[in-house]
Amino acid sequence: MTATDVTWHHGEVTRDAREALLGHRAACLWLTGLSGSGKSTLARRVERLLVERGVLAYVLDGDNLRHGLNADLGFSAAAREENVRRVGEVARLLVDAGVVVLAAFISPYRADRARVRALFEEGRFVEIHVATPLEECERRDPKGLYARARAGEITSFTGVSDPYEPPASPELVVDTTGAALDATAAEVVAWLARAALIPPA
Ligand code: ADX
Repeated sequence: MTATDVTWHHGEVTRDAREALLGHRAACLWLTGLSGSGKSTLARRVERLLVERGVLAYVLDGDNLRHGLNADLGFSAAAREENVRRVGEVARLLVDAGVVVLAAFISPYRADRARVRALFEEGRFVEIHVATPLEECERRDPKGLYARARAGEITSFTGVSDPYEPPASPELVVDTTGAALDATAAEVVAWLARAALIPPA
């Protein structure tokens, strides 16, 4: 059912005021990539580095949100679209609250990611492609899901039996193969400082 007869109510406190309070700008960093590519690990390290610098950062993670908000969703294209849509809306609220959001979701479809991008002002949505190759993700297989997907026990598994559409022009591309986690996380933080979203170190 679609909500009708609802009007947007503006608050008395603006995002600008909240940003002034926090001392940095708010943004959504969207980490997209295959399962096992290192999105969540990277997001959590960046979150820690940012908080250590006095930046209010917060991770939204696919596996975690699928335990609650998105527990009713599976992995069909429509379910992934809805998953990404909801997360985009949550990220939008958090960005309005002044937070630097790190959203780690496979988000395999370009169109779904573009819809999320469209929720944000220019410069507030930072798409990060965690471009770890499939072979490496499969070699790691931290949850044993690739093995199960290859055995046919899991259907529609991204990279095996379901598509992944890499971003055409992401703000940042990282490949976690062989790279130290701290170095990659520092790269993301440095990017944010260069973009003047957070103060210089
Ligand atoms: S998304 O495609 O809708 O963005 P999301 O990031 O929320 O996916 O969740 C992905 C996680 O769900 C994976 O890391 C993996 O642990 C688990 N998972 C379970 N089934 C699948 C599947 N068929 N395809 C991809 N990931 C799956």
